[in-house]
Amino acid sequence: MKISGNTFVITGGTGGIGGATAKSLTSQGASVALFDIIPEDKGQAFANELGVGEKAKYYKVDITNSDAVKAAVEDVVTSLGNLKGAVHCAGVAIKREWTNDIAESIPNFKKMLDINVTGTFIVNAHVADAINKPLNHPDGSDKHAPFWTSNEERGVIVNFASAAANPYARVLSYGPTKTAVVGITKSFSDFLGPSGIRVVSISPSIVVSAMTANFSTYFSDDLLKTATFPRVPLTADQITPTIQYIIENVGVNGIDIPVDGGWRLVSLKAGIEGGKDPRELAPGLE
Ligand SMILES: NC(=O)c1ccc[n+]([C@@H]2O[C@H](COP(=O)([O-])OP(=O)(O)OC[C@H]3O[C@@H](n4cnc5c(N)ncnc54)[C@H](O)[C@@H]3O)[C@@H](O)[C@H]2O)c1
Repeated sequence: MKISGNTFVITGGTGGIGGATAKSLTSQGASVALFDIIPEDKGQAFANELGVGEKAKYYKVDITNSDAVKAAVEDVVTSLGNLKGAVHCAGVAIKREWTNDIAESIPNFKKMLDINVTGTFIVNAHVADAINKPLNHPDGSDKHAPFWTSNEERGVIVNFASAAANPYARVLSYGPTKTAVVGITKSFSDFLGPSGIRVVSISPSIVVSAMTANFSTYFSDDLLKTATFPRVPLTADQITPTIQYIIENVGVNGIDIPVDGGWRLVSLKAGIEGGKDPRELAPGLE
């Protein structure tokens, strides 16, 4: 898919990876619709700083609200036009002070399930439906018409999973929500393939952003010790080339791409050190 001249929704568009994506895509001639939950004036100020005028528009929209996402995507189609996909970066990693009562994790797990998993489903569904609408319901009518097909590339969606999607990553609640993002990526790529829309996810290790600013050093210490290269957290600008690669390469579909410096997370290496169970050293993260 060409970047220049096309429009992409970027959820979490004022965050670390989303913000870097907005800069990268607009600098290459794309229009961007930034979906985030920060106040309208701050979000639009962020969009204005991209320096592309009306080619960058902010939408205050909570990705867990299906109606709000649908309305925002429909506005993107009318006001920016040429919608060709999404880079879905919105997500949360909630921490709690660790106790051995695992059940205390349930409320935060439910929140992360809603934002990271249901939010991913909602964004993927409404962006795909908006791209497919002209093909699917040419006369705006029958949604039970035969399934659409196209041999032409019509869209691309990039989701964000995580190295924590690995079930051994010692990330109790956030981890499985990211495993589900990999699952949604694969099922959507299967369902959307016939209409020429690709869906791919990226699994970064630790990226410097607001999300990781207060992380315990449990994970970063392990990364410094056991990643292959580089043995430092990545910057958001080191993630955007993979987003570009996915958008521009028509053969890349239905997979999860690790961008993790060869880091395989704590349980495989640090846990073995000194014969100690990692739970004795640090509890992990919700
Ligand atoms: N930073 C990392 O180390 C890392 C590692 C692996 C995966 N990821 C994933 O990458 C993605 C981007 O992370 P980031 O580092 O840019 O984080 P970030 O915190 O900088 O950005 C996340 C953005 O999502 C927005 N957001 C949160 N809830 C929302 C909601 N309900 N509706 C709309 N917007 C919402 C936030 O306001 C924020 O701007 C996330 O899905 C994250 O889980 C991050």
